Amino acid sequence: MSRDIYILGIETSCDETAVAIVKNGRNIVSNTVASQIESHKRFGGVVPEIASRHHVEQMTIVLEEAFNEANVSWNDINAIAVTEGPGLVGALLVGVNAAKALAFAKQKSLVGVHHIAGHIYANRLEKEFEFPLLALIVSGGHTELVLMKEHGHYELIGETRDDAAGEAFDKVARMLDLPYPGGPQIDRLAAEGEETIDFPRAWLEEGSYDFSFSGLKSAVINKIHNAKQRGEDLKKADIAASFQASVIDVLTKKTSRAAKEYEVRQVIVAGGVAANKGLRSALESEFADLNIPLLIPPLSLCTDNAAMIAAAGTIAYEQGRRSGLDLNANPSLILK
Ligand code: KG4
Ligand code: ZN
Repeated sequence: MSRDIYILGIETSCDETAVAIVKNGRNIVSNTVASQIESHKRFGGVVPEIASRHHVEQMTIVLEEAFNEANVSWNDINAIAVTEGPGLVGALLVGVNAAKALAFAKQKSLVGVHHIAGHIYANRLEKEFEFPLLALIVSGGHTELVLMKEHGHYELIGETRDDAAGEAFDKVARMLDLPYPGGPQIDRLAAEGEETIDFPRAWLEEGSYDFSFSGLKSAVINKIHNAKQRGEDLKKADIAASFQASVIDVLTKKTSRAAKEYEVRQVIVAGGVAANKGLRSALESEFADLNIPLLIPPLSLCTDNAAMIAAAGTIAYEQGRRSGLDLNANPSLILK
C-alpha cells in the first residue's frame, strides 16, 4: 500500500477560484485556477460581491478540472486543505463551505490554512526548506517578514503599518491611469523609465522591520498634482521607475538586515509582488553578495493558487492539525 499523502487544496480568498492536488507536500499533481481579473477590471479593483458570486459559479467546474487533470481519485485523497483567512469574508466562505461539504460527503479530514502560510509553502513546491528561514511576503493584502525555525511555525518579525506593497503598486497605477491590476503595469513601465525622482524611503525607527507605504503613495500623488499645476510634463515611466525603486530599496534592505541578524539559511519570497522583475533582480544580487540562498517561486506560484494551500496543508496534516466541520472563514486570521 502506498504511503503517499495526497492533499486537495482549495483557495478562494480573493479573486482566484483555485483547486489543486499535491502529493507529499512537494509535487503538484494538478493545479487549476480560474481568474476573475477580467470581471473586476472595469471597476479598477476587486468588488467583493462579484468575487463571491464568481467563486460560487466556478467552484464545481474548477474542482472537476483538478480531478480530470490528475490521475488520482477521491480514494487517494487524505485530507482537504482550505484557506480559512485572511481575505474577503464572502469569498473565503465559498471555499470553506465547499471544503466542509466535501469533507463531510467524502469522509475526509479537513485542515484550515492561513493564506500567507500558503504563499510561503509555494516555495517548497520548488525546493526543500532549510531552517531557520526568512520569508518576505509581498502581496496585494500583505507585506510581512516571517521567521521560521521549523515547519508549520511562524514568527512575525515585521509587517506593514498601513498599505501593503501590492496595494501601493495598484494605487499608484490608478493615479497613472493604468488598468487593474496595476503591479504588472508599473513593473513594465518602470523598465522603460529612469529613476529621476527621489521619492522617500520609510525606514521607520532604528531596528524596526515594519514597513509603511502610505507616505510614498502621498509623495507620488503630490508630485503628479504639482507637475500638473505647473504644466510640467512628467513621464509616466519615470514616475513608475522612481516609485518602484523606493519600494524595492526598502524591501531589499530590511530583508537583508533581518537575514543577517537571524543568521538564516534560506530567504524565500512569496506573494503576487514577488513577480516584480525589479524586486527579483535586486534581491538576487543582494543575496548573492551575502551568499544566502534565495528562493523565488515561478510566476504561476507567486500569485494566488491552491497548490500552495495544499502544500502548507500537508505540513499541518502531518503535524496532526485538524479543523472541525464548524470551521469558519476568518478575514483577519493571525499567522502563528
Ligand atoms: O498574492 P496576490 O496574487 O494576491 C493577494 O493575496 O493579494 O497579489 C496580488 C498583488 C496585486 O497587488 C498586484 O498588483 C501585485 O500583486 N503584482 C505585482 C506584480 N504582479 C502582481 N506587483 C508588482 N509587480 C508585478 N510584476
Ligand atoms: Zn495571495
